[in-house]
Amino acid sequence: MSLLKVNDLKVHFPIRGGFFKTVVDQVRAVDGISFEIEPGETYGLVGESGCGKTTTGRAIIGLNNITEGEVLFEGTDLAQLSGRKKRAQSRDIQMIFQDPYSSLNVRKRVLDIVAEPLRNYERMSPKEELDKVQALIERVGLGPEAVYKYPHQFSGGQRQRIGIARALTLNPKLIIADEPVSALDVSVQAQVLNFMQDIQKEFNLSYLFISHDLGVVQHLCNRIGIMYKGRLVEEGTADEIYSTPQHLYTKRLISAIPEMDPAKRLEKTHLRQAIDDEYRTDYDNYFDDEGRLFDLKKISDTHSVAML
Ligand SMILES: Nc1ncnc2c1ncn2[C@@H]1O[C@H](COP(=O)(O)OP(=O)(O)OP(=O)(O)O)[C@@H](O)[C@H]1O
Ligand SMILES: [Mg+2]
Repeated sequence: MSLLKVNDLKVHFPIRGGFFKTVVDQVRAVDGISFEIEPGETYGLVGESGCGKTTTGRAIIGLNNITEGEVLFEGTDLAQLSGRKKRAQSRDIQMIFQDPYSSLNVRKRVLDIVAEPLRNYERMSPKEELDKVQALIERVGLGPEAVYKYPHQFSGGQRQRIGIARALTLNPKLIIADEPVSALDVSVQAQVLNFMQDIQKEFNLSYLFISHDLGVVQHLCNRIGIMYKGRLVEEGTADEIYSTPQHLYTKRLISAIPEMDPAKRLEKTHLRQAIDDEYRTDYDNYFDDEGRLFDLKKISDTHSVAML
């Protein structure tokens, strides 16, 4: 059984206007996406700014209302649960938020930030709590004295580690990591990504890894879903996405990854031009008569593309 199964998920936001603030239109932030995550897997959700990645993550943990569709966690629809069962299930999914500067409460000490989920879910003595938080804070690479400091006393990378420690407190099964490194500079990015990989086995974690940058998720993800305008346009193993991308938009994202090898730069420039040309001539072929991106169709057991 999949750990997480997202079934034709739609999240629409009403746009209100006019004197009576009536609903005049909808933002179709997420417009019918389906994917599954297996235990121990890292699934990458990748697409440009505004394509609906954060909205998807927030809908999964219940921070956004679901307009249509369902989210099954270990086979159970979270939206249908209530009371104690909901609490028990929802501790198994934690989220690391996009911006390490605003996602931590600036008025709280690290101890209180990291212990907050524990206080919500478990009864621990102050000593047990302190021990647990200190162990986690050390595991994410900060000194034990860090628990008495405030978020502004840390760098961006350190803050993101505090966010990770907080997400780990309840031993979740799934962590939704929303652009966990995009606010950090490149050298720190690698450290945080490596760290996230290190703890994956140790804590038995699955990740839903959200990013706008295919370059970042390349070595991290088992499978990747490419999101465009609230829809999935391609899904496959990391290898399929990088080696044999099929959808125009996926090809575009790949051609945008900077080439590190100077010998291959010229080749990359040509590739980029070819894809830009294809983009101009073929763009309309990827939409149906109503201007909607096609549904995903399987082209192999693991690879699907939104094409006619
Ligand atoms: N609460 C809301 N009310 C109205 N519109 C919203 C709301 N939240 C998100 N949107 C809209 O939904 C769309 C998708 O937003 P979302 O934050 O999911 O994008 P994203 O893929 O995470 O982008 P980024 O890479 O910039 O973080 C955007 O057009 C956004 O303006
Ligand atoms: Mg986002």
